[in-house]
Amino acid sequence: MTMAALKAQNVAQLSYQGKTIDLPVCFGTDGPGVLDLQGLYSATGLFTFDPGYTSTASCRSEITYIDGAKGILLYRGYPIQQLAEKSDFMEVAYLLLYGDLPTSVQKDEFIQTINNHTLVHEQVSSFFRGFRRDAHPMAIMVGVVGALSSFYHDSLDIQDPAQRHIAALRLIAKMPTLAGMAYKYSIGQPFVYPQSHLSYSENFLNMMFSTPTTPYVINPLWAKAIDRILILHADHEQNASTSTIRLAGSSGANPFACIAAGIAALWGPAHGGANEAVLGMLEEIGHVDRIPEFIGRAKDKNDPFRLMGFGHRVYKSYDPRASVLRETCYEILGEAGVKDNQMLQLAMELERIAMADEYFIEKKLYPNVDFYSGIIFKAMGIPVTMFTVLFAIARTVGWISQWKEMIADPMQKIGRPRQLYVGKAYRDFIPMEKRLEESQ
Ligand code: ACO
Repeated sequence: MTMAALKAQNVAQLSYQGKTIDLPVCFGTDGPGVLDLQGLYSATGLFTFDPGYTSTASCRSEITYIDGAKGILLYRGYPIQQLAEKSDFMEVAYLLLYGDLPTSVQKDEFIQTINNHTLVHEQVSSFFRGFRRDAHPMAIMVGVVGALSSFYHDSLDIQDPAQRHIAALRLIAKMPTLAGMAYKYSIGQPFVYPQSHLSYSENFLNMMFSTPTTPYVINPLWAKAIDRILILHADHEQNASTSTIRLAGSSGANPFACIAAGIAALWGPAHGGANEAVLGMLEEIGHVDRIPEFIGRAKDKNDPFRLMGFGHRVYKSYDPRASVLRETCYEILGEAGVKDNQMLQLAMELERIAMADEYFIEKKLYPNVDFYSGIIFKAMGIPVTMFTVLFAIARTVGWISQWKEMIADPMQKIGRPRQLYVGKAYRDFIPMEKRLEESQ
């Protein structure tokens, strides 16, 4: 199914140097409309200038909708709270990929297909041995996911819808396997193969924590929490990593290379790396007695310190993902053993104090999804360096759905932004013997 052509519902006028041009204004299902600027350059000789894309819709999409002011996040129209409560990650993956919730037969078939693709080519394991043991797992993921394109030659033809789809399924299925391998390699333990009788989340936990000597007993509460975190992170509209994938894919690059590019973009602390920063901050605070000092620093205009895991660029009311994860976080922390953990107690006390503080209330600085996911991962014993890898596993389905949508969109063309050139004006080449004199 292809998307309908853009239809103008209104017109805006732009006057420049005595000439007035009409710019079509188009609206989607919901959210702000767009000024269609495709004809702007030919009509006026002007480009638009919007660093950071703060006023730019880079594409049209049917997948995810966010209303940051109202705290709304919808996948294919369904609110994230309902999906987190009533669905599971495989169903949500199906929804994002195909556009509708599966019937029970479709769901079973989908899970079986994913299970058929969880193994990676045995030779992929030799890639791992080339990395240092202390390599960051995100560095390993960028490398090995990109390297998948050298193994699966039968799913590289992006003009073939069947090949595009098989590549999507392979990526969703193999990401947890590769993530588990990255972790096991870093601690010197043997790789654990995926098990088809386990759910997606159970499989991930098993590949992380099982060893040949001791079978891992999966805690159902933990598997449910991982599943929920995967649902909450599965897609988030045209964020930095998704836009990276669309741009890389617009040149015709293969899907494995595109996802590797997305993983690289996600790695940055301003994007997927924030939950790592939350744990760094908690370590720095060290003790509940020091919380007032750090709250004071966060409020001090002359101190660059900010409370990590608080505030959000898009959500100016509560991040709907954070409210769901808050409940899960409390469930996990209520488990025996966890309540004795000093760092987790510190996190809960910090949340309590900040949410009662006038500064945070007035500026609408609520805990964001990274605050709670970091604490949950920590409680499960998942190392901090793996936090962003888990984000990448979840986001793979969103990335690949967006990539597939882009390739199938008849409006798709290579992404090629222009620029405002502020360098030297035209000048003639200076021969070597004259350069010193010229510069003096
Ligand atoms: N701690 C203390 N003060 C804060 C914080 C914070 N975490 N976040 C924002 N503020 C203050 C700012 O100092 C500013 O104050 P002012 O109005 O007096 O100048 C005001 O709140 C607005 O802040 P901005 O930076 O303009 O808000 P913006 O929307 O641009 O920033 C951001 C959002 C980057 C997430 C910010 O809240 C922040 O740095 N948070 C901490 C890092 C973090 O948790 N990032 C994860 C985001 S979630 C995600 O990526 C999945």
